[in-house]
Amino acid sequence: MQTNVHEIADGVYRLSTCIPEAAPGGFTFNQYLIDAEEPLLFHTGPRQMFDLVAPAAAGVLDLERLRWISFGHVESDECGAMNRWLQAAPAAAVTFNGLGCDVSLNDLADRPPVVADDATPLDIGGHRIRTIATPHVPHGWEAQVIFDEPTRTLFCGDLFGQTGDGPAIVHDADLVGAALAAEDLFGATCLTAATAPTIRQLADLEPRTLALMHGPAFAGDCVTALHDLADAYETRFRSTCEQGAAA
Ligand SMILES: [Fe+2]
Ligand SMILES: [Fe+2]
Repeated sequence: MQTNVHEIADGVYRLSTCIPEAAPGGFTFNQYLIDAEEPLLFHTGPRQMFDLVAPAAAGVLDLERLRWISFGHVESDECGAMNRWLQAAPAAAVTFNGLGCDVSLNDLADRPPVVADDATPLDIGGHRIRTIATPHVPHGWEAQVIFDEPTRTLFCGDLFGQTGDGPAIVHDADLVGAALAAEDLFGATCLTAATAPTIRQLADLEPRTLALMHGPAFAGDCVTALHDLADAYETRFRSTCEQGAAA
């Protein structure tokens, strides 16, 4: 197993490790490191993968410089290694939405997390990070995504998650078909009335790149991909409701 590093947008590095046995064709676990004056890591990786991922990150920047740690929700692949990173990077703090801090992170993080201001982007020097709460999308009460304004990169976590170990970045691909195939395999997404509208709001950001946690980064028509994903989940939600009503 190895962690591959690739710059997928200006100063944005994808650290990707494929676990072959996690799914047919393998399953990638990606962290994203933003090299700014105050570098930010999005996703820590699982605790047991830290010794693989940290040296890869250290090839991009001195880990002692790491200032911010964020992630999509509280699950081991998103934040299992959080306290290992806090240990390795003495200046680092977790930044997360207020609900996530109140519900989990004030307790789980070895150093107090910093509540992300949902109205004002975090200026990390060269990059500006918006934290957007997306409760239960794709799963987890505390779920969130982040958006880097200068590069227009949407770090969309488990949204669009797909199996396989493809290239680091693609420009033209059927993201939605691959995501729905993975959804059929894992059933990881909360299907609620809020799922599609929440995803459509992310399209309003007009991202230039989607940074998937499980899959390649996508530098194609992100707005259409987000709308198509929202439409697909809306169709699935409606059909689930209709089946429930008919039963
Ligand atoms: Fe997840
Ligand atoms: Fe994940």
